[in-house]
Amino acid sequence: MSDQFFTKEWERWCWTLEKLVIHGQKRLKGEVTVSGAKNAAVAILPAAILSDGHCTIENIPDILDISILKNILTNLGARIEHLNDSSIRIDTSKVNSYTATDKQIGNLRASYYLMGALLGRFKKAVVTFPGGCDFGVRPIDQHIKGFEALGAKVEIEHGKVIINANKLIGAPIYLDVVSVGATINIMLAAVKAEGITTIENPAKEPHIVDLANFLNAMGADIKGAGTDVIKIRGVRELKGGHVYTIIPDQIEAGTFMIAAAATRGDVLVKNIIPKHMESLTAKLMEMNVRVQEYDDSIRVSSKDKIQNVNIKTLPYPGFPTDLHPPVTALLCRAEGTSIITEGVWDNRFQYVDELKRMGAKIKVEGRMAVIDGSVRLTGAPIRALDLRAGAAMVIAGLMARGETTVSNIHYIDRGYEKLDEKLRALGADIQRIQE
Ligand code: EPU
Repeated sequence: MSDQFFTKEWERWCWTLEKLVIHGQKRLKGEVTVSGAKNAAVAILPAAILSDGHCTIENIPDILDISILKNILTNLGARIEHLNDSSIRIDTSKVNSYTATDKQIGNLRASYYLMGALLGRFKKAVVTFPGGCDFGVRPIDQHIKGFEALGAKVEIEHGKVIINANKLIGAPIYLDVVSVGATINIMLAAVKAEGITTIENPAKEPHIVDLANFLNAMGADIKGAGTDVIKIRGVRELKGGHVYTIIPDQIEAGTFMIAAAATRGDVLVKNIIPKHMESLTAKLMEMNVRVQEYDDSIRVSSKDKIQNVNIKTLPYPGFPTDLHPPVTALLCRAEGTSIITEGVWDNRFQYVDELKRMGAKIKVEGRMAVIDGSVRLTGAPIRALDLRAGAAMVIAGLMARGETTVSNIHYIDRGYEKLDEKLRALGADIQRIQE
């Protein structure tokens, strides 16, 4: 599909003013199947560039960020064939450009993975400076530090990151902050470098491990993903020809678990890896929510009052920052006062003002929010200010008395596959309307 098509698609999403209309206080009941992980898919698709062949990738979520990414890869010369709703065959043998500066790239945070992938393949990359959700400063200094350690020269000019290397040589790299994006980008750039790269203090998120598994399936030699040190022994080439299935989305799963608890519901969340959910499971149990784990599903039910808890978000295996806004909505119905401390992003509390329109009593002090659970939420017109804030608005709407309209829902569509449809199937009164 053409660049023009996707630019129009993006603009349609942003400007058609679709809204979600929710009539709250319906208990969610039934089963829901979680889609493939967004944050794994946005790394694995660019990683395919590192091979000179084709591969099949399954369990790709049908979300806006992936549509944009597929288009960017097509513009670089990749051939993408859709095998079904969630599987593609991607042939990267004809990728012939190291320049990714399409208009859409600035809309997509994960476009920064093109830096590592193009650098790994061509020893050069020119990529528009990444955009994405706004919750404070989003530097890329650790990505740059990693590329430079491997021997590349990095310049930023006219809103583009320009990277050049004669050759990439493995090196020890210590990350000053735990960064998902920098860990992934260094893995992408180092996988075909000469010699050994070690990443110390890396991120350990499930999608880091998933990317390493994908690269290893193509012939890479990566050990230690998910631990304190990742060791990458460079290989000459990566082969295609394999079939890879992306892991389930930890954050989508968590969003449904929280929504079930928030509506006093009873929901079996299927196609998940319960181990990835441990930090949330522990907190829900502390809140007096019933959580039963099975092999690849979790049942969440709640009839009683929710107990107040304190939560601090941290890199994995800590409580995920991306579940912070949804869990804040849930804590609006807890007994007593809860405290959420944001340990990853500088400024992730903008959405609180939207919850206040619904009557929420939340006080934000720096990186901390104090949530008083003594008020019941009432429906109001509110906005999704970013992807996970959008999920929080929907959960608040499901909890509230009366009608809630959520606008700016293109943010939600960026990262949740058919959230409204899935919730409707669980009994929510939620409709998507066009204004
Ligand atoms: N940081 C730096 N320098 C860097 C990179 C990051 O100081 O070079 C700091 C950031 O400012 C932040 C912290 O390190 O304070 C963590 O940032 P990280 O690099 O881990 O975040 P990211 O890679 O940009 C990914 C997810 C986010 C998720 C964070 C944290 C993707 C595409 N995005 O972002 O997911 O919040 O990790 O887990 O994987 C979302 O899905 O809604 C989302 C925003």
